[in-house]
Formats: sequence, C-alpha cells, structure tokens
Amino acid sequence: MSERSSRLKGFYELPPAQRQEVLAAWAGLDAEDRRALDGGLDLAAADRLVENAVGLYTLPFAIAPNFIVNGAELLLPLVIEEPSVVAAMANAARLARAGGGFQTGSTEPVMIGQVQLLDVPDPAAAAASILAAKEALLAQVETLHPTIRRLGGGPRDLVVRRLDDTPAGPMLIVHLLLDTRDAMGANAVNTAVEALAPALEALSGGRALLRILSNLSDERRAWAGCRIPAAAFAGPEDTGEAVASGICVANAFAVADPYRAATHNKGIFNGIDAVALATGQDWRAIEAGAHAYAARSGQYRSLTEWSLDGDTLVGRLELPLAVGTVGGMTKHHPTARLALKVLGNPDARRLAEIMAAAGLAQNLAALRALAAEGIQAGHMALHARRDQK
Ligand code: MEV
Repeated sequence: MSERSSRLKGFYELPPAQRQEVLAAWAGLDAEDRRALDGGLDLAAADRLVENAVGLYTLPFAIAPNFIVNGAELLLPLVIEEPSVVAAMANAARLARAGGGFQTGSTEPVMIGQVQLLDVPDPAAAAASILAAKEALLAQVETLHPTIRRLGGGPRDLVVRRLDDTPAGPMLIVHLLLDTRDAMGANAVNTAVEALAPALEALSGGRALLRILSNLSDERRAWAGCRIPAAAFAGPEDTGEAVASGICVANAFAVADPYRAATHNKGIFNGIDAVALATGQDWRAIEAGAHAYAARSGQYRSLTEWSLDGDTLVGRLELPLAVGTVGGMTKHHPTARLALKVLGNPDARRLAEIMAAAGLAQNLAALRALAAEGIQAGHMALHARRDQK
C-alpha cells in the first residue's frame, strides 16, 4: 500500500499553478511531464494521427483526489468539459474511503474478432468442420503475433455461431478469442481474423465477408465495488439511512426503465470517459461495448447494482472495458502518457479496473445528489462559478 494519501484537502481551493505543484510532487513529475499539462499534442503530431488536420482542440485536464483502489491511494486524471463531474467524483471517492475505497477485479484481456461466412451450403457440417480444425486454426494465429505471445497472450478459443434468420438470409459467424495483453488489441484482432478467413472459407464451403473485431468485448470485463456505512451519507436534511436507501431505489428505477437507464449509464460514462480521454483510450469502443452489454438481457438496463446490507450501502459496476496501455494514443500523446504516469503506469487490466471505480464513483455521486438535495443544487452552483470567471 502506498505511503502517500490521495486525500488532498483543499486541493480545489488552490489556483491551478499551485495544483500543478502539488500534483508534480505527488506523482514525481519531471519538467517534460509538466510541459504535457499544456496540451501535449502539437500540429505535426496531430497531422501524423489523422488526415487533413488543421489545428488542435483542447479540453480541461483535472485531478480527482481521494481515490483508494484495492488499497492503493490514487489521484484520477480526468479530461472533461462538464462542470461538477470532477467535484462529484472527488466527493464520492471521499465517501467511499469510509469503507476502504473501491475493490476491483477483471477478466483476462481477451478480445473477440468476428468472421462472417455467407452461402454456407450445410451450416451444421461447416460448424463441425471448423471446430474439428480449431487447434490448427489457433496455431495459425499464434504465429501472427509473436510479441503478444511472448508477453503471455495469444489465441484462446474459436466459437461458431449460427445466425439462421437475418434480413440477408442465414450466415455462419466465427468468433476468435484473442488475449491481447496490454494492447487494446483492435489491430491484432483484425489482422488475425483477416488471416483466418481463407481457411474458414475452405472449411465451410462459404465465402467470408466481414472480418473485424467486435466492440461487445464481453470476455474482457472489469468490475468495481464499494461498501460504505450508511451513516456517511447523513446530510443537513436527511439521515444517512434515508439517502442510502434512496440510492438503492434510484438504482431500481434504472434497472427497470430504459429511459432512466440511459441517463443513469450516461452518468457512469462521465467518469469512465473522462479517464479514457485522459489516458488516450478509444472511448467510442468502450461506450459501444458497454451499452450493448447493458442491453444483454433484451432490455437496456442500469450497469450498476446498489443494495443495503444492514446499515452498509453496497455498490457494484461491471462492464466490458477494452483499454490499452501500450500502442495507439498512449504512444503518441504526451498528456496520455502523463496521465498513465499519474496512475502509476498501470497495465491494461489495472487501468480498466480504475476506470470501473471511476464509473461507480460518478454514479454514486449522481444518485446521492438526486436522492438527497437534487442534482441542480450542486450542478448549478458549479455552473455559476464557471460563468462568473
Ligand atoms: C449528468 O451529466 C449525469 C446525471 O444525469 C446522471 C444521472 O442522472 O444519474 C446526473
């Protein structure tokens, strides 16, 4: 466990330059790291990243203090434009400290790639042939990614799915499960499914059309939980028990109603996307996967669970989180590298777990405010602060 405490009382009251000093001392930032706080990317780098770049577009980079994740004290780097999100997360993380912070976990970082096979004469026989050749097919993928393999990753399984009734007729879908270790893995997966397609065509007698990763990366999930004494929620007008029970009832609304679940989950992504942006992740991929996961029962629902265990509020968030700490933007964007350094240079699983904690913290803050004084009291105060500046 770290010696440093992330409980930075009064951090929010400091002018930004002094906050930079505190952060630099806390995270051991050097002069180059500190330059990255000015935006990081230059036009030449932007020109290498995308086509037709003509400029740069910057957003606030903030720090949410107070986090404890699996016993480690953490400052969370957040890139976000919406007032009140950073304050809300700092507040929720402070409340969670009363129960030891957030406990997290994750699966192995296994991504899914899909091959769509059309005009398969006998789908049942094709599925059997593909599964019979599984070992040889996986061995073919092993050779494609020597670095991933050296780091302990590699192909894990092949799954065949029949889609007998689509608007374009029946099709056979093959999933490749590939452990991409600390890479988000989109390129590795896409290379692998493109390489496998000819063999799958030969085995099935069909023709391959799409060969691409699935963003519903439900084999690569992270979760976070917290247990907080209800007394920690006591406010000027409410008992802690009333607020904690209100949080559970608010969550039940989002479990049962997609209109509420969309707003509820949006709040979760206030936290997750802010860490994703700060650390250079593909946040569209994360959102696509998580929203599809939220609808896995056939109805779109809350991603969180909140319940009372005696006088303790218990929360949990679990979702697919395909994130990387090598390659991509983490290589090209100095501020993303800085954000990872502030987080202690986590591996991809640890980063996903921290993001799950960020999502749960944001949800806790939103539900607490909604169930107590209402969202506008805090939110509008922070809007007012911004507008006066
Ligand atoms: C606002 O950005 C997010 C909230 O609407 C989330 C929620 O309602 O749970 C406050």
